[in-house]
Amino acid sequence: MNIAVLGYGTVGSGVVEVLNTNQDSINKRAGQDVNVKYVLDLRDFEQDPIQEKIVHDYDIILNDDEIEVVVEVMGGVEPAHTFVKGALEKGKSVCTSNKELVARHGAELMEIASENNVNFLFEASVGGGIPIIRPLHNCLTADEITDIKGILNGTTNYILSKMSHEGLDFDTVLKDAQDKGYAERNPEADVEGYDACRKIAILSSLAYGKQVDFEDVLTEGITKITKSDIAYAKKLKAGIKLIGMSKKLGHDVYAMVAPMLLPESHPLVGVNDVFNAIFVKGNVLGDVMFYGQGAGKLPTASAVVSDVVDAVKNKGSNIMASWKSEKRVLSDVKKSEQQYFVRLKGAGREEAVKKTFGEVTFVSISDEKDETAFLTGTMPEKEYDEKIAGLGEVVNMIRAEL
Ligand code: HSE
Repeated sequence: MNIAVLGYGTVGSGVVEVLNTNQDSINKRAGQDVNVKYVLDLRDFEQDPIQEKIVHDYDIILNDDEIEVVVEVMGGVEPAHTFVKGALEKGKSVCTSNKELVARHGAELMEIASENNVNFLFEASVGGGIPIIRPLHNCLTADEITDIKGILNGTTNYILSKMSHEGLDFDTVLKDAQDKGYAERNPEADVEGYDACRKIAILSSLAYGKQVDFEDVLTEGITKITKSDIAYAKKLKAGIKLIGMSKKLGHDVYAMVAPMLLPESHPLVGVNDVFNAIFVKGNVLGDVMFYGQGAGKLPTASAVVSDVVDAVKNKGSNIMASWKSEKRVLSDVKKSEQQYFVRLKGAGREEAVKKTFGEVTFVSISDEKDETAFLTGTMPEKEYDEKIAGLGEVVNMIRAEL
């Protein structure tokens, strides 16, 4: 089976490395030899043996009938979308790690794959090396999924873990993460939650069967989280994590990416550094958690190659028709219920807070003397907004499930 790899960056070179390292076992599992015939890249790699496979013109791959599987690891929506669509229409299966592409065009590409009796597979697009797409699609089939909570971004989890363990502030840790190569020089997609937003949109589309548009998902990043927030969380015996979450309550589906306070005993709070984890609740199964390397060259490549093996094994049959292009209209998150940890400007506001919110838990830290901090009971976000409006300036609010 001949395959082509689009993009010889971090993941693309990882795919070639994984295929070389585990050649025998991969070929055995695929039932035939998997050979990389072409690698598409704008660049040349003169010092690398891959150079003999490098092509700069995608049409060479598209028009070669020997190529049966195309691996797309370029990232970004275009030209990836055009290339992938072209490959599927030519009867080639596609395996991708590209979450932007899957979040935006997943339903359309799965339909084209199905019409052409090939496959569009995307295990690596969420959770890097963690198997999560295949389990949601193939394994948890006896269940109605009611709840997904995930640490879906390694960079922000590294930053929050380090802030929490070493008492450092956001800017210091971000710089350290950039120096170590975990965070991009332009870290916006990670720290503002955009990356996690695409991933929760993919998981929600898969779990609930219709297209969840990532633009509809309320998204907050971690740039407003401070050392003091972490100190307060510790007093509450909680951890702060950037959580991509979605839940189904009756006909309502809610989805959101936001920092969240969870109890120290919650399995997601024990997930540190660049690791990812996805906590899934099924109506008959109960809780199940997937944990592992959520990013990086070889873990991501491992997931891509597992898709290649699936594509080779399932030649001639479509195995991945996961969600319809019909839009899932998300319910207003203002209706969703949780607790709120609030830092109100000004000390000594306890009576006013109690009058407005009733029973709350007050918490204080020595570094912040000029504020009143408290944890509310569970209520819809709309109710919280209405109540807090009468209490003056809020320094910060973090949603909580404690
Ligand atoms: N920037 C992403 C992360 C890479 O930090 O998790 C994987 O999608």
